[in-house]
Amino acid sequence: MHFDSKLPDVGTTIFTVMSRRALEENALNIGQGFPDYPIDPRLSQALVDVIAEGRNQYAPMEGVVELRHEIVRKLETCYSHRFDPQSEITVTCGATEALYDAIQAVVRAGDEVILFEPAYDSYEPAVRLAGGRCITVPLTPPHFAYDWERVAGVLSARTRLIIINSPQNPSCSVAGAADLDALAALIRDRPISVLADEVYEHVLYDGRRHASVLGHEELRARSFAVFSFGKTLHATGWRVGYCVAPPAMTLELRRVHQFNTFSIASPLQHAIARYLSRHPDGWMGLAPFFQAKRDLLAARLAGSGFEPVTAAGTYFQLVDYSALSGAVDVDFADRLIREAKVATIPLSPFYKVPPAMSLLRLCIAKRDETLEQAARQLREFAARCRSAS
Ligand SMILES: Cc1ncc(COP(=O)(O)O)c(C=O)c1O
Repeated sequence: MHFDSKLPDVGTTIFTVMSRRALEENALNIGQGFPDYPIDPRLSQALVDVIAEGRNQYAPMEGVVELRHEIVRKLETCYSHRFDPQSEITVTCGATEALYDAIQAVVRAGDEVILFEPAYDSYEPAVRLAGGRCITVPLTPPHFAYDWERVAGVLSARTRLIIINSPQNPSCSVAGAADLDALAALIRDRPISVLADEVYEHVLYDGRRHASVLGHEELRARSFAVFSFGKTLHATGWRVGYCVAPPAMTLELRRVHQFNTFSIASPLQHAIARYLSRHPDGWMGLAPFFQAKRDLLAARLAGSGFEPVTAAGTYFQLVDYSALSGAVDVDFADRLIREAKVATIPLSPFYKVPPAMSLLRLCIAKRDETLEQAARQLREFAARCRSAS
């Protein structure tokens, strides 16, 4: 039987490809975004405890009540607004599920969705599965800034959703309060919702503060804001995230969620709730923790030919390799796996039509020894490149 794909051009994600290549070539993997250090042992213990206590059956569809209360408390601390745990918070299978559910809840056949490139890779397929069409607006290098005039130029009667991601993966840029004001002004009199991917909400550097849609009165009223405990608790494999949205939007999101995953692993939710209740401010240390890693890697790479582009946020770091090679990034990244034994992530797969660029994304959520080792291997590779030319 001929099987007609709904997503014929969607292959395996670049993260999976590069991680697989890293294994094949026995390379150090600082590409895919996951920590290589253990989670807080108090979080592991909380999980052991709640399983032993019997928290092992279906969780409520919208999320365990204790966890939703902890989320409300945390949001109030961060964004000075008290949300209703019954009608505004939904626990999801990582941020990925929240993004997918929000898109399915809003986008109808023929609708247009504006997103910014380079873009995290899960947005576009979800829009297409909903029957929508993505309209992409580039973030302008070198700082990957938002160009709101350009956004105004692509708004149409069909625009239903705008997806923003700050701090932004993979550009490591952040949106400021002025960006949120500009966005709010653009959509003020239009039936357009916002999907704000804020999974790196606590990872901003050099004293920057996160501008969340939840702290913006106008945007809060029309936004799905998406968060990830995978990022906040260094536990990407737990796959626990959540979505915050006004009651009417949450209702629609839950209509998708309940037939998608129905509910999220009960012991994981209870463990996170218990951990947050005992260590309510644990996330406050994230920015200095990752900033030290960013600075360590940048110091080790400076002058090597892999020039760090100072990251404003996220747990990634871009490096520019143009001093070493004119190769396209996907080929150069594969060469690095083979010859430097270091796996990175090229930037072009984050674009529909990639511009000419020579940037690679490195993940800094790694032990210092891993970062030191990766930097050493990259420097040695760069030295070999230079002596060969
Ligand atoms: C920008 C962005 N959004 C969403 C996700 C997915 O988060 P989760 O692992 O919680 O599904 C990631 C993960 O890397 C990400 O970088």
